[in-house]
Amino acid sequence: MTTKSKNVSTYKFYLNGKWIESESGRTIEIQSPYLHETIGRVQAITRDEVDEAIYSARQAQKEWAQTSLQDRAHYLNKWADELVNMEYEIAETIMKEVGKNFKDAQKETVRTAELIRYTAEEALHMHGKSMAGDSFPGGSKTKLAIVKRVPLGVILAISPFNYPVNLAAAKIAPALMAGNAVIFKPATQGAISGAKMIEALDKAGLPKGLISLVTGRGSEIGDYLVEHPGINMISFTGGTNTGVHLAKKATMVPLVLELGGKDPGIVREDADLQEAVKQIISGAYSYSGQRCTAIKRVLVHESVANQLVALLKEEIEKLSVGSPEQDSVIVPLIDDAAADFVQGLVDDAVEKGAVVVTGNKRKQNLIYPTLLDHVTTEMRLAWEEPFGPVLPVIRVSSDEEAVRIANESEFGLQASIFTKDIDKAFSLANRIESGTVQINGRTERGPDHFPFLGVKGSGMGVQGIHKSLESMTREKVTVLNITN
Ligand code: NAP
Ligand code: G3P
Repeated sequence: MTTKSKNVSTYKFYLNGKWIESESGRTIEIQSPYLHETIGRVQAITRDEVDEAIYSARQAQKEWAQTSLQDRAHYLNKWADELVNMEYEIAETIMKEVGKNFKDAQKETVRTAELIRYTAEEALHMHGKSMAGDSFPGGSKTKLAIVKRVPLGVILAISPFNYPVNLAAAKIAPALMAGNAVIFKPATQGAISGAKMIEALDKAGLPKGLISLVTGRGSEIGDYLVEHPGINMISFTGGTNTGVHLAKKATMVPLVLELGGKDPGIVREDADLQEAVKQIISGAYSYSGQRCTAIKRVLVHESVANQLVALLKEEIEKLSVGSPEQDSVIVPLIDDAAADFVQGLVDDAVEKGAVVVTGNKRKQNLIYPTLLDHVTTEMRLAWEEPFGPVLPVIRVSSDEEAVRIANESEFGLQASIFTKDIDKAFSLANRIESGTVQINGRTERGPDHFPFLGVKGSGMGVQGIHKSLESMTREKVTVLNITN
């Protein structure tokens, strides 16, 4: 799987059950966001190698589609077992590659094994249906429709950097369980973690050709993959700009896109402020805010804003800041460009009158947890996704104003509402344009069997285990015409 030079491993890509060095002769150096050193290299593969991967996937999928669900579940459960066997190695790799603290990296690894097992079990209990012809006016009893689900063929799974194992397996597991083959394109900064995850799948003995790990910059091979005629469905998770670009390039194949977010935390005047603060801190600052479902703006009723800001300040200043090896909550961002972007949003807000309550301090790509008060809708930070530990507080005078501002966003992933009035919470939830609304809880994707979706600029289609299995299959109708 690897070769070594100057004590740095070069990871091969995975095709037809083999680890291979690319014909391109080119590799991409992966820099650790906190060690600030090269922790490995991955292959920059060629278009011919993409073609070969897709060809072998199409061949392998024909037989795989005929395997029993029990056999497929066997391979997936072995994969989960191998991931658990490799838990520490994979967690350490995630930590070094994307700067996630070790505990969270371990949790991601274990959560992935649980997701895979649940996916296998869920698929075993997904059954078709039959329909009688005479239930339609003029229909005949002699017609009986038998509806089942069949695989789509070859799934292109493209994942982001921030959950390099979990968000990849969340695509690969349902795809395989549904009888498809997979072309897996990890985020480049996450490709080593992805390779370790595929190593576990290889150890599980998955039939050759069913999955390929294709590494290389999305800007170089992304369009070629997306436009490839051998791809039958694309499951993408990443930024909105990338997702929109991909959707324009994709041909007539089904898409599921999980994109960016700007999740509001709406704090009503009757909220339990202590609880709201606990949820907002965890929702906004875990993994330095590098979560699509992070709380990325607080819309607080002006009557409790001062109290809330004071409580938030107190808790933010307790957050651990530093190396992921010390399980810090606030860790260096994925790269300097990300930190520059976040700093730009803070500078813009401050220039336009926002008040720095705490933070606005930076060391290289480490941004200290920052809280800005009196943020207005004139500021970029009110609307743009920082993907960093920066939280704007926007003061509102009513529920109506909170809903209006929440819905003016281009995004619609999740929202949190903090209130003691549950009737009011449901009434607001019904009016908020998002995939999910959390009542008195932080915005988050889990548990992984819940439907997970974004609307507007946050995506299209639905993930979540059952929904992913559905999106990676189609219905096949067989009508029995009873002649006697
Ligand atoms: P990104 O830059 O959009 O990259 C996502 C994936 O797309 C990577 O594998 C990337 O490969 C690939 N890619 C880049 N250009 C492509 C192209 N032209 N065609 C096909 N694929 C291409 O996102 P990220 O920085 O990894 O993740 C952060 C963003 O993802 C944030 O906006 C976050 O909100 C969003 N996100 C959303 C969810 C969700 O579930 N809604 C979850 C996590 C993250 P390279 O790495 O090689 O460029
Ligand atoms: O950004 C990754 C997205 O899937 C969030 O996952 O579980 O941290 O809400 P979670």
